[in-house]
Amino acid sequence: MKDIINRFITIQARHGIFFRSEVTSELLIQNNNYVFKQIPKELFAKDPIFDEKNRIEKFYNRLKDGHHYCYGFFDQDNAVVFYMWISYPESTSILVPWVFKTKLVVKPCTAYIWDCFTAPQYRRRDLYKKGLLRAKALCAQQGVEQVYIDCTNDNIASQAGINSAGFKIFFAYTVRRVGALNFVNQDARKGVTVVLSGKGYNIVL
Ligand SMILES: CC(C)(COP(=O)(O)OP(=O)(O)OC[C@H]1O[C@@H](n2cnc3c(N)ncnc32)[C@H](O)[C@@H]1OP(=O)(O)O)[C@@H](O)C(=O)NCCC(=O)NCCS
Repeated sequence: MKDIINRFITIQARHGIFFRSEVTSELLIQNNNYVFKQIPKELFAKDPIFDEKNRIEKFYNRLKDGHHYCYGFFDQDNAVVFYMWISYPESTSILVPWVFKTKLVVKPCTAYIWDCFTAPQYRRRDLYKKGLLRAKALCAQQGVEQVYIDCTNDNIASQAGINSAGFKIFFAYTVRRVGALNFVNQDARKGVTVVLSGKGYNIVL
């Protein structure tokens, strides 16, 4: 009984900021030290960067969905030093896992960048910022017009990189998890819709 009560009264909250950018197809200065390319799934089980989070099964499942792509920078020894996930639909809207059990609804001509990670020993070398710029250029090639990304309020490094890559604040949000339910609060900015879905609300970008 106690377990059941706890399940329904546990409250967790995540406070974050959504950013948005038009895509850019401007030429990027080539960085000779690192090559930006799609990460083959075989590397999830091999490259040390993926040990950090131990999320191999999740990563395989993302690829099965068919509209989530993992890209990153490789060093001269072909080791992954930074990775990011980019999701964009081909024709109809797609769902992307978001905070707690909520989902983002990503519409055609838009993309969402998520789960970005720089190997600790390679941090503060602009890899995140340059990765975001590369992702925008890649999205432009795919016919995407607007790219979204979000991070928590306290993630100063992520916010700095997002700003440097030319994203602008879109809206602030709070997601609260109360037991099995999820609630999303967000300011009523044009273009964002929150829809009830299952045990929570999804944000439509
Ligand atoms: C957030 C993260 C990806 C940044 O990676 P990074 O490659 O070190 O970032 P960059 O070198 O491109 O730096 C981007 C900006 O952040 C700043 N920055 C980086 N680390 C910082 C820190 N610890 N404190 C303050 N600012 C920081 C840089 O000075 C740079 O600012 P500038 O563009 O104004 O000069 C990395 O810290 C990380 O993997 N963290 C854990 C996972 C995470 O939080 N991911 C982001 C959520 S999607």
